[in-house]
Amino acid sequence: MPVVSFALGDPGELVARVQAAGARALVMVTTVAEALRAAELGADAVIAQGAEAGGHRSTFAIAPGDEPPTVGALALVPQVADAVAAPVVAAGGIMDGRGVVAALALGAAGVQLGTRFLLARESGATPAYRRRLLAATEADTVVTRAFTGRPARGLRNRLTEEHRRAGAEPLAWPLQGLAAADILREGLARDDADLFPLLAGQGLRLQRGEQGAAEIVEELVRGATDLLARLGARAG
Ligand SMILES: Cc1cc2nc3c(=O)[nH]c(=O)nc-3n(C[C@H](O)[C@H](O)[C@H](O)COP(=O)(O)O)c2cc1C
Repeated sequence: MPVVSFALGDPGELVARVQAAGARALVMVTTVAEALRAAELGADAVIAQGAEAGGHRSTFAIAPGDEPPTVGALALVPQVADAVAAPVVAAGGIMDGRGVVAALALGAAGVQLGTRFLLARESGATPAYRRRLLAATEADTVVTRAFTGRPARGLRNRLTEEHRRAGAEPLAWPLQGLAAADILREGLARDDADLFPLLAGQGLRLQRGEQGAAEIVEELVRGATDLLARLGARAG
């Protein structure tokens, strides 16, 4: 079954169009109000994106100068699960079997991971990006509009820090990214990790060395299954 996953905004009538074309529509949200809107649109599943998550914040609408809501997954997932009938997928800071089991305990039916896959062999992360990831800790990310004009979580680097120090109001999405395109292109060409976005979430100390994506999925399933069995044995 094909799936279309919407992020970064209210997908409106696109949900029904995707479903009419025979696909499932997933909608990523960062608050209960957005989850209720996704349910009203008939989303097949709602992805609850906690503030820990790497990449762009999936907040539907952010007024210029406003801060996006930053509700952590521990608080967001159960409140979204209580609010909507559709299955909830938890995202943000899930890196191993413990995170998967925690998400299930909070009422999620599934999980979505980004950061854990950045070091995968199949990942497009450049060598310099990988080195920064391996050296980073949970305290090394920021939510910034410097990359594209929309808030995104990534590793602190020269790009994020000079933008912050300059105090310049970022241009609106997608103009900020277009305005910075020559810097980002040159940064990537030189693989200079100070000059392009290093999107990443907060679970950084839970990264493992290079693995295949399938290997990571198997490890997550095995870790969660073993932990559930241990917890069951303790409860029994
Ligand atoms: C490098 C990177 C790129 C991402 N790109 C997308 C994207 O194109 N579309 C999307 O829906 N989510 C994207 N995400 C967000 C993830 O889907 C997810 O919400 C997030 O990674 C979960 O948190 P985690 O990074 O702590 O696992 C991206 C995340 C990362 C780290």
